Amino acid sequence: MGTEFEHLVLTEKETDKKEYQRMIHLTVEKILASLDSGAAYKGMTPEKLRERVHLEELLPEKGLGFDSVLEEASEKILPNFLRPFSTSYMAHLHSSALLESIVSELILSTFNQSMDSWDQAPVATEIEVEVIRHLCKLYGYGEGSDGVFTSGGSQSNLSGLLLARDWFCNTALSWDVKKYGLPASYRKFRLYASEISHFSMEKSTHLMGLGYDCVVKVPVNDAMQMDADKLEKLIVQDLEDGNLPFCIAATVGTTDFGSIDPLGKLSEIAKKYSLWLHADAAYGSGVVLSEKYAHKVKDLSLCDSITVDFHKMFLLPISCSASLVKDGKNFETLTLHADYLNREEDEEDGYINLVDKSMQTTRRFDALKVWFSFRARGKEGWSAMITRFMENARYLYEKLSANSDFEVAVEPEISSVVFRVLPGADRKESADDMNKRIRRKLLHEHGVVIGQTVCKGNVCLKFTLLNPLLTHEKLDELLSLILSLR
Ligand SMILES: Cc1ncc(COP(=O)(O)O)c(C=O)c1O
Repeated sequence: MGTEFEHLVLTEKETDKKEYQRMIHLTVEKILASLDSGAAYKGMTPEKLRERVHLEELLPEKGLGFDSVLEEASEKILPNFLRPFSTSYMAHLHSSALLESIVSELILSTFNQSMDSWDQAPVATEIEVEVIRHLCKLYGYGEGSDGVFTSGGSQSNLSGLLLARDWFCNTALSWDVKKYGLPASYRKFRLYASEISHFSMEKSTHLMGLGYDCVVKVPVNDAMQMDADKLEKLIVQDLEDGNLPFCIAATVGTTDFGSIDPLGKLSEIAKKYSLWLHADAAYGSGVVLSEKYAHKVKDLSLCDSITVDFHKMFLLPISCSASLVKDGKNFETLTLHADYLNREEDEEDGYINLVDKSMQTTRRFDALKVWFSFRARGKEGWSAMITRFMENARYLYEKLSANSDFEVAVEPEISSVVFRVLPGADRKESADDMNKRIRRKLLHEHGVVIGQTVCKGNVCLKFTLLNPLLTHEKLDELLSLILSLR
């Protein structure tokens, strides 16, 4: 019986410690050996990859043992990973993971704390509380503000918007939605977000029982920012029609363009009509750490709730996000006591159960990654990285604008540049087809992964610059490569 279960988990026993160390050491060797080129992707097509990973059975009768499964992973999986740390990867808001944050992941998985209750995560709870306190300060929030870590921007948005809905029901309709469900007037609820806001707005309103139609899409101006005058007109019209505006959801860093909605003006409108102002800063929240550019996001402090994503501009491993709220009392909407977990008396006795603010029950100790990397790199280290992203985008924008073979969609606000290649005079292929073809060729034949989107009806290419190792020379090289594929 004893030997059957050997080396199952890490314990205080020397033999377990040695095996833990051996397995990690071996894994690190395999990971390092797999990094044999600078390509972002080895290029396998979906069919080839599917064939490569096909298994007759996932669960063999007899276990194969760690060493041979690691070997299998080294052959089939490791070489075919996308490498977000490659300077040839710039497709999405998806970054490489800072070295110290990979170590944080090792620590947090090893100890596997669960953030729902203090007795499952004593020091982890206290660290998360401390990290949240400092994050609130960083975004200009004062006394009474609060926050919680979540699984990502979509969940942080859902959390902020849910609080907005319940706040509105409580304050404007004297209706306890937590207890009774939606009020009869729910189909009149209106949430305003720009026409290029992230689809998690609609997903959230669906999940909140309000449906997609609750989201009023506000037109953007030429800089891809929500048009505040049009927003106000839409609110006034809705009020005249008997609808119930409850929230403005601003985007601070739109997914494609990185544009920032005018928070100052939106905050005045929100105050005038007694609406909640939410900021989806999943992308733009990182700008706060650039000494040179932090002013672009200073008005986040005016918002009632903020979505911060650490697995985008902050280069921390997936997943890592936070939902911050100016008046932390609003989190009460997510509190429900269970005798087995988060007793009311715990709170009275000073035991913080973070499940009281969270949609998740069992939850990872992601706050450790922020704690580690903020302390390791400090203001200077962080400022240099974020500023680099933004200045690379400016460089790329200037290069593209100066070349008549390209057309740039909009001046970058943060670190994304959307553009398209224009066909030469002799080309039969449409500009849309050519840009699509170039992206696919880069992916499968050149180990280069860039983004593709649509702007004003045209297929465009996108560089999302979240790699501190990216140089101007590399950007020049990529532009030449793109032109050579025309
Ligand atoms: C502006 C914006 N908000 C929200 C999200 C969703 O974040 P997540 O993917 O972490 O759920 C994204 C994702 O790219 C985004 O660009």
